[in-house]
Formats: sequence, C-alpha cells, structure tokens
Amino acid sequence: MDIWFHPAKELDTLVKKAAAAAGFDESFEAQMRPADPRFGDFQSNGVLPYAKAQKANPRALGEKLLEAIKASPDFDQSLIEISIAGPGFVNFTLTKKFLNAWLAKYKGQSELAEAASGFYHGKKVVIDYPSPNTAKQMHVGHLRPMVIGEAVKRLLKFCGADILADNHIGDWGTNFGILIYGIKQNGYKLDAENENSLEELEQMYKKGSALVKESEDAANAAREELVKLQNGDPENVELWNEINKVSTAAFDRMYKRMNLTIDLTYGESFYRDKVERIYKELSETGLAEESEGALVVFLRDHDRFKTQPFIIRKRDGASNYASTDLATLLYRVEVLHAQEVVYVTDGRQQDHFQQLFLTAEKWFKAKGYKLPELRHVWFGTILGEDGKAIKTKSGEPIRLKALLDEAVARAKKIVLEKNPDIDGAEADKIANTVGVAALRYADLVQNRTGDYVFSWDKLLAFDGNTAPYLLYAVARIHSIFRKTGFSPNDDFASKAGEVETEQEVALARKLLALPAVFELTLNELRPHYLCIYLYELAGAFSTFYNADKVMVDDEAVKARRLMLCSRTLRILETGLRLLGIEPLEKM
Ligand code: ARG
Repeated sequence: MDIWFHPAKELDTLVKKAAAAAGFDESFEAQMRPADPRFGDFQSNGVLPYAKAQKANPRALGEKLLEAIKASPDFDQSLIEISIAGPGFVNFTLTKKFLNAWLAKYKGQSELAEAASGFYHGKKVVIDYPSPNTAKQMHVGHLRPMVIGEAVKRLLKFCGADILADNHIGDWGTNFGILIYGIKQNGYKLDAENENSLEELEQMYKKGSALVKESEDAANAAREELVKLQNGDPENVELWNEINKVSTAAFDRMYKRMNLTIDLTYGESFYRDKVERIYKELSETGLAEESEGALVVFLRDHDRFKTQPFIIRKRDGASNYASTDLATLLYRVEVLHAQEVVYVTDGRQQDHFQQLFLTAEKWFKAKGYKLPELRHVWFGTILGEDGKAIKTKSGEPIRLKALLDEAVARAKKIVLEKNPDIDGAEADKIANTVGVAALRYADLVQNRTGDYVFSWDKLLAFDGNTAPYLLYAVARIHSIFRKTGFSPNDDFASKAGEVETEQEVALARKLLALPAVFELTLNELRPHYLCIYLYELAGAFSTFYNADKVMVDDEAVKARRLMLCSRTLRILETGLRLLGIEPLEKM
C-alpha cells in the first residue's frame, strides 16, 4: 500500500470499492469523517443508512464490508488498523508505522506541493482580484480583495491549478468624463513618477464633480468629454492613458508591498469593443429584452431576479459593469480556456454575481458553450471600534499606504522593545515583515463572509492566533536547529524510531491533518481554515517541545524528535507562504 497523502480521501474511495465487491449497490456512500480520537482517526458511517434503506442488519453488513476492505489489494493492516464499532461504524486508525512513513515521505514544501497538486491536477483557473477602480487611491477597503485573493490564488496554485490572476481594473465608464473635464478645467499636468499624482487626480475628480453638480453646462461638458473619449478623440484618449499610467504606477507600489502575484491586467476597457457580441447573442437567444430603452435580462425562474433586471446596456447605449463582465467571462473561456473562474469582491456585489452566473448559465447553454465552474469569493467589511466601517477621524477612508506604514512603525517599536541591541537594518527588515504580515493575517484569520473589528493591539499581539505568534513559532524552530547544529534538511527519517510519546503522536497526527485542511479550504475558498490549523499545529508543537526533550542520547529518539521539529517547521512555513507571508529565520 502507498503512503497516502490524504488518507481520509483514499479510504473513502477504498471503502466504496470494497462495498461494491461485497455486493452493496451504487447507493452506498462511505461517509468518511474524522473519528472520536479514542476510537481512531477516521470513521465510515455509511453502513447504517444503507442498512436501513435495504432493511438489513447493519452489524452484519458492517462485518461483510470489513472483510471486503481487508481483502482489498490496496489495503495494508500494518499501516491502517480497522475495526467495527457499535451498530456498524467502521473505524480506521493510522498505525505508528504509517505516521512515520508519512513524515518520512512528505518532508518539505516541494514534496507537499507535488502531493497536493492532485487536488486540482492542472485545471485551468482564472482568479479575478484585486480589481480596483483606477483614478482612486487605495484605501483600507482594498485590503481584503488583495489579501484574500492572493491567499486563494496561492492555495489553488499549490494544489495543482494552472492559474492566472487577472486584475480586472475598473478603467472605463462615466467617471472618466467628469475626471477629464476636471483636469482640463484646472489645467492639470499628470506625471506617473510623482507619488502624489493619484491623490491629485482625486482632487481633479472632486473639483470636476462639484462643477457638474452646480451647473447644467458643466454636466453637458463632462458628458461631451466622455463621448469624445468613447469615440477615440486623440487628446482624451491620451489623457485617459495617462490617468491609467498614474493609477497603475501607484497600484504597483502597493502590490509590491503586499507581495501580490498578478499575471494579467486587462480591465474593463479591454472589453469595450467586445460587448456588441453580448447584446447580439443575448438578444438572439431570447434572454435579453428592451425595457425602458435599456437592454436587460430578467431571470424568470428566480424569485427576485424575475423582476429585478440585470441591465446589460444602459438607456444612453453605453455598456456597463454587467456587459463588460459577460464579455470578460466569454473571453476567459474562449481565449484563456478557463475551466473555473473565481471572483474576489465585497459582499455587496452578491446580486451582481448571482445574476451574472445565472445569465451565463442560460446563455452558454443556448449557444452550446462550455460553462466553467463559477465561484464568487465575497467578504464582509472591516469595522472601526464603533462598529461602523473603519474611517479616519475626519471621516475619510484610511489610505492603504498610511495603514501599512503604521503597521510597520508599530511593529518596529515592538521589535526594538524585545531586542534593544538589534542592528537597525535587521530591525527594519523584521518590522516590515511582521507589520504587513500582522495586517494580512488578522484579515485572513476571520471567516471572510463576516465583518470584523480592526484592532492594532490584537493583530500585533505575540499570543493568540496572530502573525507575530506564528512567525515567532517558525523562528523558534529555526533557532532550535541553529543551537543543536543540525539542519531541518538533514535526513532524520532513516534513523528515526517510531513516534512514541503521547505528545509526539499528537503532533504527528496534527501534521498529517494538513491535506484534510487543504480540502476544506479549497471547498469553500475560506483561508481562515488554514489559519486555524497553523495555530493549532504551533500549539501541538509547543506542547510536544515542552514535554519531550529533543537532544537526548538515544539516537533514534533524537532523530524522530528532530524530524518532528523539521516537519512542523516546513508545514508552518509552507502555510504562511500560502497566506502571502514570507517567514523569517530569526526574529
Ligand atoms: N472594480 C470592481 C470594484 O472595485 C471589482 C471588479 C471585480 N471583478 C469583476 N469581474 N467584476 O468593485
């Protein structure tokens, strides 16, 4: 028998096969789940409901299944013990031999990645994040799509997806008329090299929109600028290009600080000449209809969307968020060959994405296109202490840059308190990692669909489920290796005796739980599951390390304990990297 990476999943398949061999019919499901630790690692609960449906004795069916499992060529009882409990539950216990063999086999990030790639085995995925709107500075609201999007992207990639991150920037639409009007009125010159340009652009927009509100002439003039842009007027197109350059330069500085790995940035404007086909196909297939001058989709079989229209062309004939998104989806399927598309946005866009997905389903079906799996990974709001969306004292959204700077400054203060003698460059390096990681982790540790209250003290704390705690746990294991003169890459497995003490076994089992955590996290694309796991793993390690001395005379005991240290280190590091955090060796 192989040393399975994900034993619960393999056992599920094996039990299903054994059931067929034992004469069970197709309706049988193994229902593999984690067992009460007193009875084993996993339990198959499928016999009971099956026996009930068949009006058969569950215990007898359980015995039959057990025999079939034992007889299976893919099953080795020296690696997994099997027993029957109660009225027909089948329990599985990984033997110490299995635990050791697993730890020997999945020893570092590359071995883990290779095994994990079986989850997605090369499936083509496009993930859409952080997708900000141009001509606006990034603020605290942009933190979540960046952080969650990046974690989800890394996780999917690690688990075998052939993934592209497409940053669908909002770089088209009515706002540009007002902005261009504002710029021209103020005789403003753009400069992408100037760090403040984006802030100044925002001022231009504010001035433009104030004028537009004041006078009908200004409103017409702004509309005129937009029409000129849409018709390819060279001056306005040039200005629009400059605006995008300024935005991109400012965004890129943020992406760099946040370690984002974006592959493509097409944006809404890329699809402006691709919407005609959408109008045509949706009209032809009878999905879209004219309503009060606009082109809209009503989803007749949906409670709400049968009366709430999905507007795909505005009354003035302009395309919008919906039409560009439909065109974007088609492009991702036809040109990028996406088999799955993941959208990362704020929860307030849930209706948009539901309407988009349902419309696409009908449209693709009518045209015979292959519909990819569509997932909306949405998130809640970051709240201030007052329970309302977080703001500065003057009521403005907090700038992302200011937030990051403050995180690093606060982290530096803590680093200096903890190591008064540290050299300046080293302190800056640590503070930079810890500060940004703390912000990021505090976001990821929350179930994404909830709101959460932002707190500097909590996110920078060295205890609790925080980035500083986990980074410190990693640095501590590195320091164990430095002190003992071993390397985490040394070969411990061949010299290690089987895990023995309660704490060793508990830690080994926790390490082996990683694949189940990947599975759970992938199913729902909720990174907090991984955060909880890493925190529990660090806790299991502490318990082990406090109870069991590593540097003992017995070579086999020492080797297995060093192996546990090394594997914990590698899984913690791998997990942090998947969350977008590059761990430190020293802190
Ligand atoms: N630009 C949009 C916003 O800032 C998010 C775009 C998300 N992606 C998409 N394909 N709709 O809210």
